[in-house]
Amino acid sequence: MKLLVVGGGGREHAIIKKLKENPEVQAIYALPGNGGIAADATCVPIGATDIEGIVKFALEHGIDYAVVAPDDPLVLGAVDALNEAGISCFGPNKAAAIIEGSKAFAKDLMKKYGIPTAKYEIFTELSQALDYLDTAPIPTVVKADGLALGKGVIIAQTREEAKEAVTDMMANAKFGKSGSTVVIEEFLEGPEVSVLSFTDGKTVVPMVSSMDHKRAGDNDTGLNTGGMGTIAPNPYYTPEVARRCMEEIFLPTIRAMEEEGRTFKGCLYFGLMITKDGPKVIEYNCRFGDPETQVVLPLLETDLLTIMQATTNGTLARTEVKFSDKSACCVIKASAGYPLSYEKGFVLTMTEEAAEHTYVAGAKLTDGKLLTAGGRVTGTTAVADTLAEAIRQAYRLAEGVHFDNAYYRRDIGARAMKACGEVK
Ligand code: AMP
Ligand code: GLY
Repeated sequence: MKLLVVGGGGREHAIIKKLKENPEVQAIYALPGNGGIAADATCVPIGATDIEGIVKFALEHGIDYAVVAPDDPLVLGAVDALNEAGISCFGPNKAAAIIEGSKAFAKDLMKKYGIPTAKYEIFTELSQALDYLDTAPIPTVVKADGLALGKGVIIAQTREEAKEAVTDMMANAKFGKSGSTVVIEEFLEGPEVSVLSFTDGKTVVPMVSSMDHKRAGDNDTGLNTGGMGTIAPNPYYTPEVARRCMEEIFLPTIRAMEEEGRTFKGCLYFGLMITKDGPKVIEYNCRFGDPETQVVLPLLETDLLTIMQATTNGTLARTEVKFSDKSACCVIKASAGYPLSYEKGFVLTMTEEAAEHTYVAGAKLTDGKLLTAGGRVTGTTAVADTLAEAIRQAYRLAEGVHFDNAYYRRDIGARAMKACGEVK
């Protein structure tokens, strides 16, 4: 089998390493991949949103199965284009990817089908949004409708802050077209849980739950990032919460999408908040999370390619999906200054042991050397019998990853460890 994986971050590296475990896989091409991924796949300099280029490459190289990992090519219709060219692939088509591509769509879907989420209003006129904010409960949450690299969400503590956020989005086009429509929603409180799931449009199989650490600084301080580390499983995702999520959120969402003529196949990511009134949806993503994937896939015991193909073929109900009952922790090392401005081009080295456990998110190969090339540079994952041991090992292994100006959080998993003592 010849595979193609679209994307080039830590998530894609984790997917590729897992796919390689299948002995039938002869070749994996990463488009574009990165310097670190080049150790596990053939990287080809075709951008993840160059859909024409991706299809052309797939046809020329006799690709048997393609995996489209990032949100933007999915929302742009990469799966539709590959399918039209006769190439089977993992991921939702454009009609289904809108569940992440438009927050207004996602909110209206949840309202129509009674899926628990924060109360909200949608605005396309700035003046109406500003009027609404005169009386809206504070704090409030302002979200750009479209994709905004995870930066289109503002938690406003005051009316002034909320008004500034909608003005930036709607009048000053801070997020381009993504912010011409905004969602203003109720502020929810409670621990967050990420649940990625495999679905073929009818059957939904949740993967092991995880917890992201989105803020740049220890103790959840500082700016929001793409994610500075993850642990799995998430202790807040108790069997009772899992049962409610399946009944009230996962199955209703899959059925709603089918009902709407937007059957979702691939990985549907549920960003959940466990409020005092039960689990509620904070966001849907139409793809694997990053860096959630870097703790979830190392715990997968059955073959990833077989499961992916089952989501495409509609045979997921008959396919075994098994996760280990161990724990995992992933520690991200980032360039100092991320998520704002940071320097690149520092030499990245890893001990052999660290490299074996590390997914490379942002590096390029120049004259045989790896140089840092992104905000998030590496994610180092350890799997162990207990969460405490997974955390200890992940930090120990991450010490074997070196580059100048490296920055990482020291408290990945600390909140989860505390919760293990509280949540029964
Ligand atoms: P999103 O990009 O939708 O995942 O939002 C980014 C982060 O903002 C989430 O992980 C939450 O921590 C926070 N957030 C989003 N919506 C809400 C909400 N309604 N109430 C409280 N926090 C929220
Ligand atoms: N880690 C959050 C995301 O992938 O959107």
